[in-house]
Amino acid sequence: MTMRIAVAISGRGSNLEALLQALGPDAPAEVVLVLSDRGGATGLELARRRNIPVQVLADPADSALWLQLLRRYEADLLVLAGYLKLVPAPVIAAFRGRIINVHPALLPAFGGKGMYGHRVHEAVLASGARESGATVHLVDEVYDHGRILAQARVPVLPDDTPQRLAARVLEAEHRLLPAVVLAAAEAGQPVSCPGL
Ligand code: GRF
Repeated sequence: MTMRIAVAISGRGSNLEALLQALGPDAPAEVVLVLSDRGGATGLELARRRNIPVQVLADPADSALWLQLLRRYEADLLVLAGYLKLVPAPVIAAFRGRIINVHPALLPAFGGKGMYGHRVHEAVLASGARESGATVHLVDEVYDHGRILAQARVPVLPDDTPQRLAARVLEAEHRLLPAVVLAAAEAGQPVSCPGL
Protein backbone atom coordinates (compact mmCIF):
# COMPACT_ATOMS: atom_id res chain seq x y z
CA MET A 1 0.00 0.00 0.00
CA THR A 2 1.29 3.44 -0.89
CA MET A 3 1.39 5.67 2.20
CA ARG A 4 -0.75 8.78 1.63
CA ILE A 5 0.88 11.93 2.97
CA ALA A 6 -0.49 15.35 3.79
CA VAL A 7 2.12 18.10 4.13
CA ALA A 8 1.58 21.35 6.03
CA ILE A 9 3.72 24.40 5.22
CA SER A 10 3.76 28.10 6.16
CA GLY A 11 6.36 29.47 3.76
CA ARG A 12 8.97 28.72 1.09
CA GLY A 13 8.46 24.96 0.99
CA SER A 14 12.02 23.78 0.32
CA ASN A 15 11.48 20.74 2.56
CA LEU A 16 8.28 19.98 0.65
CA GLU A 17 10.29 20.22 -2.59
CA ALA A 18 12.95 17.87 -1.22
CA LEU A 19 10.23 15.40 -0.24
CA LEU A 20 8.48 15.60 -3.63
CA GLN A 21 11.78 15.02 -5.42
CA ALA A 22 12.54 12.01 -3.20
CA LEU A 23 9.13 10.44 -3.82
CA GLY A 24 9.40 9.30 -7.43
CA PRO A 25 6.60 7.44 -9.28
CA ASP A 26 7.46 4.06 -7.72
CA ALA A 27 7.95 5.37 -4.19
CA PRO A 28 6.04 3.69 -1.31
CA ALA A 29 4.56 7.06 -0.39
CA GLU A 30 2.74 9.88 -2.17
CA VAL A 31 1.92 13.48 -1.24
CA VAL A 32 -1.85 13.73 -1.70
CA LEU A 33 -2.54 17.10 -0.04
CA VAL A 34 -0.66 20.30 0.83
CA LEU A 35 -2.09 22.49 3.58
CA SER A 36 -1.07 25.97 4.64
CA ASP A 37 -2.07 28.57 7.19
CA ARG A 38 -1.00 31.25 4.67
CA GLY A 39 -2.53 31.75 1.25
CA GLY A 40 0.66 33.53 0.20
CA ALA A 41 2.99 30.66 1.11
CA THR A 42 5.29 30.40 -1.91
CA GLY A 43 5.63 26.66 -1.39
CA LEU A 44 2.01 26.20 -2.48
CA GLU A 45 3.08 26.78 -6.07
CA LEU A 46 5.29 23.67 -5.86
CA ALA A 47 2.18 21.59 -5.22
CA ARG A 48 -0.03 23.34 -7.75
CA ARG A 49 2.60 22.79 -10.46
CA ARG A 50 2.38 19.06 -9.74
CA ASN A 51 -1.44 19.09 -9.57
CA ILE A 52 -1.37 18.17 -5.90
CA PRO A 53 -4.48 19.43 -4.10
CA VAL A 54 -3.83 22.54 -2.01
CA GLN A 55 -5.92 23.81 0.90
CA VAL A 56 -5.40 27.11 2.71
CA LEU A 57 -6.71 26.87 6.26
CA ALA A 58 -8.95 29.90 6.82
CA ASP A 59 -8.73 29.17 10.56
CA PRO A 60 -5.68 27.01 11.42
CA ALA A 61 -7.17 26.38 14.89
CA ASP A 62 -10.29 24.78 13.38
CA SER A 63 -9.69 21.10 14.20
CA ALA A 64 -12.89 19.97 12.44
CA LEU A 65 -11.58 21.43 9.17
CA TRP A 66 -8.22 19.66 9.58
CA LEU A 67 -9.89 16.33 10.29
CA GLN A 68 -12.36 16.73 7.44
CA LEU A 69 -9.50 17.39 4.98
CA LEU A 70 -7.21 14.66 6.29
CA ARG A 71 -10.07 12.18 6.08
CA ARG A 72 -11.26 13.37 2.67
CA TYR A 73 -7.78 12.77 1.22
CA GLU A 74 -7.36 9.59 3.33
CA ALA A 75 -4.04 10.79 4.73
CA ASP A 76 -2.05 8.16 6.63
CA LEU A 77 0.70 10.56 7.71
CA LEU A 78 0.82 14.33 8.35
CA VAL A 79 4.20 15.98 7.77
CA LEU A 80 4.89 19.46 9.17
CA ALA A 81 7.49 20.96 6.83
CA GLY A 82 8.03 24.53 7.95
CA TYR A 83 4.52 24.76 9.44
CA LEU A 84 4.82 27.36 12.19
CA LYS A 85 1.58 26.99 14.13
CA LEU A 86 0.57 24.39 16.71
CA VAL A 87 -1.65 21.67 15.25
CA PRO A 88 -4.99 21.61 17.11
CA ALA A 89 -5.08 19.06 19.97
CA PRO A 90 -8.05 17.05 18.57
CA VAL A 91 -6.07 16.51 15.35
CA ILE A 92 -3.03 15.34 17.30
CA ALA A 93 -5.25 13.02 19.31
CA ALA A 94 -6.85 11.58 16.16
CA PHE A 95 -3.50 11.17 14.41
CA ARG A 96 -1.27 10.40 17.40
CA GLY A 97 1.96 8.76 16.29
CA ARG A 98 1.26 9.70 12.66
CA ILE A 99 2.37 13.36 12.65
CA ILE A 100 6.04 14.33 12.22
CA ASN A 101 7.85 17.66 12.16
CA VAL A 102 11.26 18.81 10.96
CA HIS A 103 13.12 21.31 13.16
CA PRO A 104 16.40 23.10 12.30
CA ALA A 105 18.30 22.27 15.49
CA LEU A 106 19.35 19.30 17.64
CA LEU A 107 16.31 19.00 19.90
CA PRO A 108 15.62 19.09 22.78
CA ALA A 109 17.90 22.13 22.67
CA PHE A 110 16.91 25.27 20.74
CA GLY A 111 13.26 24.34 20.35
CA GLY A 112 9.91 25.47 21.69
CA LYS A 113 7.45 28.30 21.09
CA GLY A 114 8.96 31.12 19.05
CA MET A 115 12.04 29.09 18.14
CA TYR A 116 11.94 29.08 14.38
CA GLY A 117 13.85 30.56 11.46
CA HIS A 118 16.95 32.70 12.12
CA ARG A 119 16.20 32.83 15.86
CA VAL A 120 17.20 29.19 16.19
CA HIS A 121 20.56 29.70 14.51
CA GLU A 122 21.25 32.94 16.39
CA ALA A 123 20.65 31.05 19.65
CA VAL A 124 22.95 28.21 18.57
CA LEU A 125 25.73 30.64 17.66
CA ALA A 126 25.24 32.62 20.88
CA SER A 127 25.53 29.41 22.92
CA GLY A 128 28.96 28.61 21.50
CA ALA A 129 27.80 25.14 20.44
CA ARG A 130 30.27 23.45 18.09
CA GLU A 131 27.57 21.37 16.47
CA SER A 132 24.02 21.88 15.24
CA GLY A 133 21.75 19.98 12.89
CA ALA A 134 18.24 18.90 12.00
CA THR A 135 15.70 16.86 13.94
CA VAL A 136 12.63 14.95 12.79
CA HIS A 137 10.30 14.12 15.66
CA LEU A 138 6.77 12.94 16.39
CA VAL A 139 4.36 15.79 17.08
CA ASP A 140 2.46 16.12 20.34
CA GLU A 141 0.60 18.96 22.02
CA VAL A 142 3.83 20.85 22.90
CA TYR A 143 6.04 22.65 20.34
CA ASP A 144 9.11 20.62 19.31
CA HIS A 145 8.53 18.13 22.17
CA GLY A 146 7.52 14.72 20.76
CA ARG A 147 9.78 11.64 20.52
CA ILE A 148 12.81 12.19 18.32
CA LEU A 149 12.91 9.83 15.32
CA ALA A 150 16.16 10.98 13.67
CA GLN A 151 18.82 13.69 13.75
CA ALA A 152 21.50 14.85 11.32
CA ARG A 153 24.48 16.74 12.72
CA VAL A 154 26.46 19.55 11.08
CA PRO A 155 29.47 21.49 12.35
CA VAL A 156 29.20 25.08 13.52
CA LEU A 157 32.13 26.93 11.92
CA PRO A 158 34.07 29.82 13.50
CA ASP A 159 32.96 32.36 10.87
CA ASP A 160 29.35 31.20 10.74
CA THR A 161 26.53 33.71 10.51
CA PRO A 162 22.93 32.67 11.25
CA GLN A 163 22.33 32.61 7.49
CA ARG A 164 25.35 30.37 6.74
CA LEU A 165 24.48 27.98 9.53
CA ALA A 166 20.81 27.93 8.44
CA ALA A 167 21.86 26.99 4.90
CA ARG A 168 24.06 24.13 6.14
CA VAL A 169 21.30 22.83 8.42
CA LEU A 170 18.70 23.12 5.65
CA GLU A 171 20.77 20.81 3.43
CA ALA A 172 20.70 18.27 6.28
CA GLU A 173 16.93 18.72 6.63
CA HIS A 174 16.45 18.04 2.93
CA ARG A 175 18.20 14.68 3.34
CA LEU A 176 16.73 13.73 6.71
CA LEU A 177 13.02 14.42 6.22
CA PRO A 178 12.57 12.33 3.02
CA ALA A 179 14.59 9.49 4.60
CA VAL A 180 12.33 9.41 7.67
CA VAL A 181 9.21 9.55 5.49
CA LEU A 182 10.45 6.66 3.32
CA ALA A 183 11.25 4.64 6.46
CA ALA A 184 7.73 5.34 7.74
CA ALA A 185 6.23 4.23 4.42
CA GLU A 186 8.22 0.98 4.55
CA ALA A 187 7.24 0.33 8.18
CA GLY A 188 3.63 1.49 7.85
CA GLN A 189 4.15 4.14 10.53
CA PRO A 190 6.84 6.60 11.67
CA VAL A 191 9.82 4.76 13.18
CA SER A 192 13.09 5.74 14.84
CA CYS A 193 15.92 5.96 12.33
CA PRO A 194 19.08 5.97 14.45
CA GLY A 195 21.25 5.04 11.48
CA LEU A 196 20.46 8.13 9.42
C1 GRF B 1 12.88 24.79 8.01
O1 GRF B 1 14.15 25.16 8.46
C2 GRF B 1 12.20 23.94 9.04
O2 GRF B 1 13.06 23.14 9.82
C3 GRF B 1 11.56 24.94 9.91
O3 GRF B 1 11.11 25.95 9.04
C4 GRF B 1 11.96 25.98 7.90
C5 GRF B 1 11.05 25.89 6.70
O4 GRF B 1 11.74 25.93 5.53
N1 GRF B 1 10.50 24.42 10.73
P1 GRF B 1 11.02 25.53 4.15
O5 GRF B 1 9.70 26.28 4.09
O6 GRF B 1 10.79 24.04 4.15
O7 GRF B 1 11.96 25.97 3.10
